[in-house]
Amino acid sequence: MSDRYSLLVLPGDGIGPEVMAEVTKVIDWFGTNRGMSFDISHGLVGGSSYDAHGTPLTDETMARAQAVDAVLLGAVGGPAYDNLDFSVKPERGLLRLRKEMDLYANLRPAQCFDALADFSSLKREVVAGLDILIVRELTSGVYFGEPRGIHSDDNNPDNEGGRVGINTQRYTSGEIRRVARSAFELARRRSNRVCSMEKANVMESGILWREEVQWVHDNEYPDVGLTHMYADNGAMQLVRRPQQFDVIVTDNLFGDILSDAAAMLTGSLGMLPSASLGAPMANGRPKALYEPVHGSAPDIAGQGKANPIACILSFAMALRYSFDRGDAAVELERAVERVLADGVRTADLMGPEGGTPVTTAQMGDRIVAALSQG
Ligand code: NAI
Ligand code: MG
Repeated sequence: MSDRYSLLVLPGDGIGPEVMAEVTKVIDWFGTNRGMSFDISHGLVGGSSYDAHGTPLTDETMARAQAVDAVLLGAVGGPAYDNLDFSVKPERGLLRLRKEMDLYANLRPAQCFDALADFSSLKREVVAGLDILIVRELTSGVYFGEPRGIHSDDNNPDNEGGRVGINTQRYTSGEIRRVARSAFELARRRSNRVCSMEKANVMESGILWREEVQWVHDNEYPDVGLTHMYADNGAMQLVRRPQQFDVIVTDNLFGDILSDAAAMLTGSLGMLPSASLGAPMANGRPKALYEPVHGSAPDIAGQGKANPIACILSFAMALRYSFDRGDAAVELERAVERVLADGVRTADLMGPEGGTPVTTAQMGDRIVAALSQG
């Protein structure tokens, strides 16, 4: 692999462009100081694309996303677009990217920075040093399965209201195996343990999930520790003793819920990065989209209040998973950690003790300064 990396930057709406401006400073720093060369192109997604082109994602931008090493996205949406037709809503732009790039593995780290351990709703000793990674299947399961819909239930006189709502949990063995492989690969680069979660006690799709994850383990990753857990117990264990986990792999629905719960163990939405990975491309790098977990935060947009760390840590994930520069990722994560340890806080990280928050741009500048101090 070369040390040239192509990036498509899609700032999006609301605070998206504000936080992305700080990521740009970080990218420039690595270009200048670490001899990495980034081919960066910019595009529109979400409401800003709708305003310019009448669609939340143009075919041209979609094609560029397919061709680059990594897409970096800010956030989409906002009240100005709430009344648009479903087909052109800002979220459709993001969903189209995920679907057409076939990004089946959604990586959601829950990492507790020591300086923020008191921010968690759990006790410091439960969360300090926490570092787990949830791998959520993103392209299948009950959010996509057929049949689905809301139908009239006319032939059932006992049904008050006369309607029925249907969704289908459907997984193929191939869909389970590929996301399991992602989890085992990731575990090998971490503490080498995977916990797979489903509800094999009550769902056939859960039985298949358990069997296929076990099959991938036994045939391809026997060196990695594998345990299975029912997802409801998993939810309890995440809150009771989260440090028992390293990598958790689970389906789309359970992953949606469990990753949100795990994220809150570590404090603010403004701190949470994510990656969505697909199959390897010809150059060996996976199709990849990196984005903060948070949305466009219209309540604080344009005020310089947004915390850019979630988006900056998403770029750290790009360094690690797309560019194979785990060393640079660690360097960036350490810089963030040091700035937080120095007490630098955006408004969302202010505790009851108060103090003066820094702006979005000041936080970005402090992180770049910490990188330079080494
Ligand atoms: P949100 O994540 O935008 O905001 C929730 C709360 O967290 C707000 O009070 C906001 O000010 C705060 N917050 C979020 N990010 C922050 C940051 N970086 N720094 C400081 N505070 C931050 O979620 P909400 O309010 O439910 O949705 C707002 C809009 O964003 C909607 O249009 C929604 O559809 C969209 N959205 C987009 C997502 C995406 O692009 N992936 C994900 C979630 C929501
Ligand atoms: Mg969710």
